[in-house]
Amino acid sequence: MSSHYQEVPDADIASESMRLRSAWQADELPSRQRKLVDAQLANYRQGIPIDVFDVMVNVLRKLTHGGANTTVLEIGCSSGFYSEVFSIAQLPVEYFGCDYSAAFIQLAQATYPQLRFDIEDATEMSYSDEMFDVVISGCCLLHIPEYEKAIAETARVVRDYVVFHRTPVVVGRPNKYFRKKAYGVETVEIHFGEADFLKSLRKYGLELIETHTLSEERDPEDSLCINANRTYVCRKLKR
Ligand SMILES: C[S@@+](CC[C@H](N)C(=O)[O-])C[C@H]1O[C@@H](n2cnc3c(N)ncnc32)[C@H](O)[C@@H]1O
Repeated sequence: MSSHYQEVPDADIASESMRLRSAWQADELPSRQRKLVDAQLANYRQGIPIDVFDVMVNVLRKLTHGGANTTVLEIGCSSGFYSEVFSIAQLPVEYFGCDYSAAFIQLAQATYPQLRFDIEDATEMSYSDEMFDVVISGCCLLHIPEYEKAIAETARVVRDYVVFHRTPVVVGRPNKYFRKKAYGVETVEIHFGEADFLKSLRKYGLELIETHTLSEERDPEDSLCINANRTYVCRKLKR
């Protein structure tokens, strides 16, 4: 539900990213996103493939050898709908969710009262070191101007594996910043220069072990640039 993409000029990147940093905390977002999610979950329950769900489930099934007794934290969990995806897929992981939006967490708690959800900012979480076996950061870093800090925090709270799900990247170019509307609300979205993004993962002790490409196309306005959306699976290197 993204529209009105406009690239942010270099001179405005810092100010626009900070101005719109809290955009996803808007009260009107959770119900709008949940409408779309409910339709996707209904299809998924009937066995209709949803590519982003399928990629995540297959990755997690492989990492957890079936899922039992594995703790999984999703950072930027919105209404916690991936917990339902895992339950439909009969992946018996122990799911935890956090998000910086109180409105999203309220909806998550109301929808899945049996699960634990916390209000946490991805750049400074209250969890202890290596608290979760697997951490998923799904389509969240792209909204965080201090995304390196969020990568460092993700690496700190995980024990074994991190999945950076649905990450928009540009190949052959540095980061690009866009202003866009998400469910009608103005936000900023970072498309990461892939080479530098992978360097940042290594910097925080995350070794890339798998990449899943959800989409990939040459930029129609820049023939030397490829736009892609990928899921990166990393192993935490032990110190
Ligand atoms: C596009 S939704 C992603 C939902 C889901 N994880 C997925 O993969 O589809 C992005 C989520 O990230 C959350 N978010 C944005 N900035 C955040 C931050 N600094 N800390 C924690 N959550 C954040 C938003 O509130 C929103 O729920």
